[in-house]
Order: sequence, then C-alpha cells, then structure tokens
Amino acid sequence: MKIIVTKDYQELSKEAFKVLKTVLDNNPQAVLGLATGSSPIGLYQAMIEDHKNHQTSYQDVVTFNLDEYVGISKDHSQSYYTFMHEKLFNFIDIKPENINIPSGATKDLQQACIDYNEKLSNTQIDIQVLGIGSNAHIGFNEPGTSFESETHIVELKEKTRLDNQRFFDSLDDVPSKAITMGIKNIMHAKQILLLAYGKNKAQAIKDMVEGAISEDVPASILQKHDNVIVVLDEEAASLLKHEK
Ligand code: GLP
Repeated sequence: MKIIVTKDYQELSKEAFKVLKTVLDNNPQAVLGLATGSSPIGLYQAMIEDHKNHQTSYQDVVTFNLDEYVGISKDHSQSYYTFMHEKLFNFIDIKPENINIPSGATKDLQQACIDYNEKLSNTQIDIQVLGIGSNAHIGFNEPGTSFESETHIVELKEKTRLDNQRFFDSLDDVPSKAITMGIKNIMHAKQILLLAYGKNKAQAIKDMVEGAISEDVPASILQKHDNVIVVLDEEAASLLKHEK
C-alpha cells in the first residue's frame, strides 16, 4: 500500500487527480470504478476543471459505480445516480450508455445483482476510487461481509445510517438497504485509489493499514491488493504509527 499524506482536503484532491489522470493519459478507454460520498468530490471537481481547461476527453471512458441505495428512485435528490450526475457526469463528455450504476429501484433486486455482476465480470476496472466508512466499510460492504462477496443487497448498519443522516431530513428517511459491488469485485480492479479525510476516519484508516486482515474490517483486505494508493489528510492519518 502506498500512503500519501497531504496537508488538507484540497491537496488530497489534487494528489488523487494526478493518479487518475495518469490512468486516463495511458488509456483514453479506461474503465473507471467510481464512488460517492464527500471524499471524492474534490477529485471530481478536478476532473471537471481539467476537462474544461485541457479538453481531457471521457468519450471512450466507461464507468462503474460501487453502490446505490435501495428503495429510493433514481431521480431522488439523495440517490447515488443523482449524486454522480450532479458532481461529475453532467460536466464531462461521457456517453450516458457508458455509465453503469447498480439499480436499487427495481422490484427484482436479485436480478439487478446478477445483471451488475455480469457486466463487471465482462470487464476489468483500471482504477477503482474508494472512500471508507467510519466502520471501515468499502462500497456498502459492512463489517462481517465475506471477502468472497460479489454484487449483493446489504442491510445498512446503524452507524452507516447515522453517518449518512446528514443528507436526509431524518434518520427514518435514510434507506436501510443498498445494492453494492462485493469485496471480490473491488479486489479485481487493477488499481485502487482510496481517499479519506478528517478525524472521523482515523481509526478506520489505522485498522485498514496496520490491523489484522479480517472480515470485521472490510477495508483491511486491501493489504492483499498489490496496487493500492491511499491519499489522506493529516487528520485521517493521525493514528498511523509513522505519522506520529
Ligand atoms: C457511503 C458510501 C461509501 C463511502 C462512504 C464514506 O457509505 N457508500 O462508498 O465511502 O459513504 O463517505 P464519505 O466520503 O462522505 O465519508
């Protein structure tokens, strides 16, 4: 794992963009794995700026998002479909047909998992962007998820719902389920770029980097991937041994 510690969120986003840009420069047909949450927003802004100022093209890029809530429609203000369009897709030249986001608004959720998994197994993600939950979840793979898991439906932990409550009117409005790529799907990516900032993530980052590899700490499996770059701010890095 390569760990880059930056002084603040702005620097973190710049560093993350450099990594992603290298992938795009080497392969204009890259397959990008994308994440939601506040951590990658600065990276997405950097991509938009770069597209505007340097005409980097996304015409041939394909994207796969990690996850989506179950039980809210695509056009709900807090759906990950809406998030990705508002934060990135509406401002770059990606083709709508190249955007893949799992569907959480369908009656047959098992079929939605099979379909998404099928798409994932026909490709290999060149770079997977990840955030991390304060309980070390990745995507929506909560503690206890099998490392062998593929796309599946999850029951969200109370902690995750509380963390995400800020985006909804009340805790009751936060969906209790989600559809997510599994850990095995995430590990299949050629490269992983994990971003985290703030004190709230410091313990999860320590557990991920220095702790035992355990299904209780989903992100700890990344220790076994041979091409992971972790970009942190000082607060998120504050419990790491070498940062003291
Ligand atoms: C949600 C998403 C995760 C994300 C996490 C952290 O649970 N499903 O993919 O990593 O939030 O979000 P943030 O970056 O806002 O802390």
